[in-house]
Amino acid sequence: MDAFVIHGGKRLRGRVRINGSKNACLPLLAAALLTDDAVTLHDVPDLSDIGNMNRLLESLGCTLAKGKDPATKTLRITVTNPEPIEAHYDIVRTMRASICVLGPMLAKRGRARVSMPGGCNIGDRPVDLHLRGLRALGAQIHNEGGYIVAEAPGGKLKGGRVFLGGPFGSTVLGTDNVMSAAVLAEGTTIIESAACEPEVEDLANMLNAMGAKITGAGSPRITIEGVEKLRGADYTVMADRIEAGTYIMAAAITNGDVVLENFPTDTLTAVMDRLEEVGIGVESILPDGSKNPAPGDRMRDVVRVFSARRLESVQVVTQPYPGFPTDLQAQLTALLCLADGNSIITEKIFPDRFMHVAELLRMNANIMRTGTSAMVSGVKRLEGAQVMASDLRASAGLVIAGLGAKGTTTINRVYHLDRGYEKMELTLQALGAEIERVNLPAT
Ligand code: EPZ
Repeated sequence: MDAFVIHGGKRLRGRVRINGSKNACLPLLAAALLTDDAVTLHDVPDLSDIGNMNRLLESLGCTLAKGKDPATKTLRITVTNPEPIEAHYDIVRTMRASICVLGPMLAKRGRARVSMPGGCNIGDRPVDLHLRGLRALGAQIHNEGGYIVAEAPGGKLKGGRVFLGGPFGSTVLGTDNVMSAAVLAEGTTIIESAACEPEVEDLANMLNAMGAKITGAGSPRITIEGVEKLRGADYTVMADRIEAGTYIMAAAITNGDVVLENFPTDTLTAVMDRLEEVGIGVESILPDGSKNPAPGDRMRDVVRVFSARRLESVQVVTQPYPGFPTDLQAQLTALLCLADGNSIITEKIFPDRFMHVAELLRMNANIMRTGTSAMVSGVKRLEGAQVMASDLRASAGLVIAGLGAKGTTTINRVYHLDRGYEKMELTLQALGAEIERVNLPAT
C-alpha cells in the first residue's frame, strides 16, 4: 500500500498550476448522459474518483476517449448504448458521488437503479433530499435490496417546486441531481434552498451550453425551464478551489512563497478572509507583472502566496458556500497547530469530520475536541510521526502537518489522497518539499 514519507521543514517556493476541480467535474461527467451528442470536457483532473466515474459511465453505455494532447486533459464522452439503467454497487461503494448519475438517467432514460451509497469516514451522508427533490418532479422511487429504484411515469418528469433545505443546509450533489433531472422535464422547476456552491454554477453553465434554460444557479433559487432535448458541448472544468486552498496552507506552514496559476479567486473569498487573519498574504499578479489590481478591478487568476513568520490564531466556522468550506477544515486545523494562541474551529456541515485530530495529536499537536468544535492551541513545533490517512481532506491535513513538522512523517493509506489530489507528491517536490511515495506492506 502506498504511503508518503515527508522530511518536514523545507520552505516551499515556486509555481503551481491549479487543476480542474474534482467536485465540479464529477457531475459534469454524469451530465453527458443527458444527450445523444458528444460532450467534450477539458482540464479533467487525473484522479482515482474521476477514473471511477469513467468506469461507471462505461457501464452505463458511454464510450470515452482521451484527447491527443495530454496537456489539455481532454475527455470526450458519447452515449453509444442508452439501454443500461443500473449503477452497480461495486462501483458506487468506491465513490459516493456516483449518485450524480441518478438525475440524468431518470431524465433521459426514464428509469434508474442506483446502488444506495453508504456512509463514509466523514459521517452518515444520507440522500433523502435528493430523493425528495426528484419525487417533487413526479419520480416514483423505492428502495429494493440496497438499490434506489426510480421511474418517471410515462418516461417523462414534470417540472415542480422543490425545497432542498436540510438540517445542515442545502445539498450540493442533491441540487446537481434535481437540476440535471429538471432540464428535460415538462414545464418549469423552481429549486428553493438550492446549494450555492460554484460547482453547481459550473454544472448549470455547461447544461446551458447544451441548450438547457437555467437561471439563478449560484443563488438559493434556481429556475429551470424544461426543454425537449440537449445537444453536446465543449466545456472547460472550473479550477479546484479546494486544491488551491490546500496548497496555500501547505505554503503557509513552511513559511513559503508560492505562485498559484489558474487560481479561482472569486470562489475563495471566505477562505482568504480567514487566512489573512492568520497572517497569510495573497497578492494577485497581473499579466503586465504589476501587483494588486486597482480598486474595482477583478482579481486575476495568478496569485502569490506568502506568510508571516508568526501565524495568528483564528476562529472559523465551516458553512455552506459562500462560507468557509468543510473541505478545507482539516487542512486549516493542521496549519493552526503552529499558530500563536487558541483557535476554535466549528464544523457545521459534517459534525463528525474530525478524524484528523487524533492523528495530529500523535504529531505533538494540542487539540481539544468538544462536540462539533475543536480548540487548537498552538505548539512550538510539530513532531514527525507515523500517521494514518482516514479520508481525502484529513489526509491533506496530515501532509500539511508533515511539511511543517520537525523530523520524518509517514502517512499511510495515501490512496485517499489520490482520490482528489493529482500527483500531490510531485507537485510538492517541485516546490522543494522532501516528500516521496513509497510502497509499504498493508497495515
Ligand atoms: C459535496 O458532497 C462534496 N462532494 C463534498 O466534498 C463536500 O464536503 C460537500 O458537498 C459539502 O460541501 C462532491 O461534490 C463530490 P451535501 P455532497 O449533500 O453533495 C446533509 C470532498 O472531500 N444531507 O452538500 O454529498 C449531509 O449529511 C467531498 O471532496 C442530508 O441531510 O454533500 C451534510 O451534512 C467530501 N440529506 C450536508 O447535508 C441529503 O440528502 C451537506 O451535504 C444530502 C445531504
